[in-house]
Amino acid sequence: MKIATVVVLGAALQLLASTSIVEGLPFDSQTAKYDNWRKTIDHARKLTGVPGMSVAVMHKGKVIFAEGFGQRNKNGDPVTAETLMPIGSMTKAMTAAMIGELVAEGKLDWDKTPVVEYVPEARFSPVLSEELTLSDYLSHRSGLPHDDTPWTNTTETRAQVFRRLKNFNLPTKLSTNLQYSNVGYAISGEAAANVAGVPYEQLVHDKIFRPLGLSHTGFSPVEMGKRPNHAMPFYSDSLKDAQAGIFHEGYLDRLIEFDSAAGDIYSNMDDLLKWGRTIMKYGEWDGEQILNRASVEQLLTARTIARGVRTLPELGPATTYSFGWFADSYKGQSVYYHGGNTLGFSSIIALFPESDLVIASLTNTYAAMYPNFVYYYLADEILNLPKTQDWTEAALAMTERVYNGTEEARKGNFPRRQKNTHPSHPLKEYVGVYTHPLFAGDVTLTLKDNHLIFHFTTFVSRMEHYHFDSFSFTFDVWSVKSAQLVTFLTGQDGKISGFEFEHIDKMLIFEKKEESKIQEENDNVQEDETEEMQEEEKESAFEQGADHMQFKLLRAL
Ligand SMILES: *[C@@H]1O[C@H](CO)[C@@H](O)[C@H](O)[C@H]1NC(C)=O
Ligand SMILES: *[C@@H]1O[C@H](CO)[C@@H](O)[C@H](O)[C@H]1NC(C)=O
Repeated sequence: MKIATVVVLGAALQLLASTSIVEGLPFDSQTAKYDNWRKTIDHARKLTGVPGMSVAVMHKGKVIFAEGFGQRNKNGDPVTAETLMPIGSMTKAMTAAMIGELVAEGKLDWDKTPVVEYVPEARFSPVLSEELTLSDYLSHRSGLPHDDTPWTNTTETRAQVFRRLKNFNLPTKLSTNLQYSNVGYAISGEAAANVAGVPYEQLVHDKIFRPLGLSHTGFSPVEMGKRPNHAMPFYSDSLKDAQAGIFHEGYLDRLIEFDSAAGDIYSNMDDLLKWGRTIMKYGEWDGEQILNRASVEQLLTARTIARGVRTLPELGPATTYSFGWFADSYKGQSVYYHGGNTLGFSSIIALFPESDLVIASLTNTYAAMYPNFVYYYLADEILNLPKTQDWTEAALAMTERVYNGTEEARKGNFPRRQKNTHPSHPLKEYVGVYTHPLFAGDVTLTLKDNHLIFHFTTFVSRMEHYHFDSFSFTFDVWSVKSAQLVTFLTGQDGKISGFEFEHIDKMLIFEKKEESKIQEENDNVQEDETEEMQEEEKESAFEQGADHMQFKLLRAL
């Protein structure tokens, strides 16, 4: 992994709020009210440790607020409303809308044809997966878990990874409860691609970006990095550092490409407001029906229950999920929303249809919780709703919880350490290649300076002896470091035969490959590569990665 540079943003920051005008749309920033919003938002941004943030509001079809705050890179360039940032899981609504267009064309259906007919590799449970339709995957009720660890930054194709899903411990019946799963969206995206004979990313471009004129929107942070006015991601070692403006600048990663249908799009305020209002108006923009109305209505129809009890007096008794949108009520108003948390970025979009109001916000740090509250604040202001609590304080409390959670994951939740114990074998006997059918890549252990080194896809970590045959290591994905424990097993022949590794509350056993088997596989590599290349051609240049790598902590909504 790249070593991040520490940069002190604080001094350069002061009040970097920069005003911007959304092209071609009326804009009025001349009132004291807007000054007050600016001050409140910038204060909350700093208090919750956010280096850069854009916020914009479209009310009754007019952009009434579109601003940037803080900075988008370590040079101190300001964030503006035009600044490009990854939108993470807000991608899901665009994937679903693209599928809606194919449904309208009669090429796909929401709830009749099992997806295995389009994606034969997505056959992961003997009964349930034979039945699952796009509607099940898009509303997160397939039973697939919220986890992307096994294919983090893999070089395997999507189809190869889907074949591994049968190694999850999956439920045998459908649930009405939401079980958020990025890979379910990856499967849906592939279903569309296979039916249309066009790569998923191209389909979203053709069906959504182009017809809506979303010229600032595209796929892949790496591609985004080639365009001017893009934000770089930042992370901080503690909330205190973040509040003081002490951040590490990260880099733009390809990590999410595998799950691109779940979270690999970037955009800006201009495009997000337009997109949001088009959805809110059932596919209509500027008097023209651009997306199929019946399909957009389906996108906003509740399917699963995300939260079944009232948690805040301002909200409704339940939060539901449709196809890429959560729905709730806020002080009596319907609100459709979705956040996006990806490596080094965090975002929100919220639609209030009864008031014809769209609010969006993008930030360039993963731990930013303020986007989840800024739309409450602005809705209160714009719709003159009764003030019930200070949303800046609520955002701060949630941000603290996130940093605390990060700290806990970093320490690891291990059993109590037994003192003065030794490994059963000399360290060199643990060296080798270990494999589990769920994981899209082998784990290789090497020895360096009397320490075992853990390698999985692009991740490398030094292992520390914990007790007996247990060793710890750290998965380090940007700000999110999670400590893990593996325990080696000895076979009847007295040799190391594998290791145990806890993954989603289940012990997985990685088997150690025999030397002869590794040689055999190397001999077969040529054959496999030819097969892979053909598959890759079919699947376009976009492979691998995952929306917000799930090292337990990362919860992407
Ligand atoms: C976070 O951790 C600190 C220190 O352990 C503690 O004082 C604080 O109450 C925690 N905050 C939350 C919101 O859990
Ligand atoms: C993922 O792989 C790419 C190379 O394809 C590499 O540049 C990047 O650093 C990797 N990401 C992580 C978090 O290891």
